[in-house]
Amino acid sequence: MRLKGKVALVTGSSQGIGQAIAIRLAAEGAKVVINYRSNPAGAEETLAQVRAAGGECQSVEGYCDNDKGYSIGADLGMVEDVRRLVDESINHYGQLDILVNNAGIEKHAPFWEATEAEFDAVLNVNLKGVFFATQAMVKHLIETQNPGKIINISSVHEELPFPNFAAYCASKGGLKMLTRNLAVELAPYGITVNNVAPGAIETPINSKLLNDPEKLAALLKNIPLGRLGQPQDVSGLVAFLASEDANYITGSTFFVDGGLTWNYQEQ
Ligand code: BGC
Repeated sequence: MRLKGKVALVTGSSQGIGQAIAIRLAAEGAKVVINYRSNPAGAEETLAQVRAAGGECQSVEGYCDNDKGYSIGADLGMVEDVRRLVDESINHYGQLDILVNNAGIEKHAPFWEATEAEFDAVLNVNLKGVFFATQAMVKHLIETQNPGKIINISSVHEELPFPNFAAYCASKGGLKMLTRNLAVELAPYGITVNNVAPGAIETPINSKLLNDPEKLAALLKNIPLGRLGQPQDVSGLVAFLASEDANYITGSTFFVDGGLTWNYQEQ
């Protein structure tokens, strides 16, 4: 129970990696705010599992607090929504200690065919949303003199090129530098900022690839550990970074990719 007494907001937690993170943080004792945009049923499912993972209820002055989780609809691509999401989370639990910027999207298109709308959609959710969610969180942390933790779910593509996903790569490369910059700027307040960079994890973002046996086989050949990752392969690391065991870690990216990033082999 490393996160007892902490409150965490996990963006994009109605499915995939975000859902696993929400459940894992709850299992570690945190109260969790779940966020969804287009999948309220998924958010309900996360909420049910968060409550189940919450373990025994805590008794505060005779009041038994079973309210381990709470769910808010918000589009991370819209700054107004982003601010409302963070403010509502703080108001609901009276504090916010951990922000996991997980929500992310990608659009497949050759560079010369990508539209302005696609570019905006990807950059707005993956980078602008993270920027302003973190800003709202940091204002609260500084006001309350709380040394909080910010964890961004980036991607191996903050380093690795990904042809046909130029906007996605630009957003994740931007996220890498945002993390480094904020780690330095926020360190005087005791706030830490880190990136987790998953490789190929079996989630809805990958559904097309998972249904294409040829592409899937080619991808698996590139992964030294020989399998796709599962959301639970990522959530344990996030729980660690959110805990006091990670107090001296900031500005770093941690790859969770089965060895994919460094697997260049000359045949
Ligand atoms: C992308 C996936 C891709 C994986 C490995 C992730 O960031 O979202 O679509 O399969 O990287 O390339």
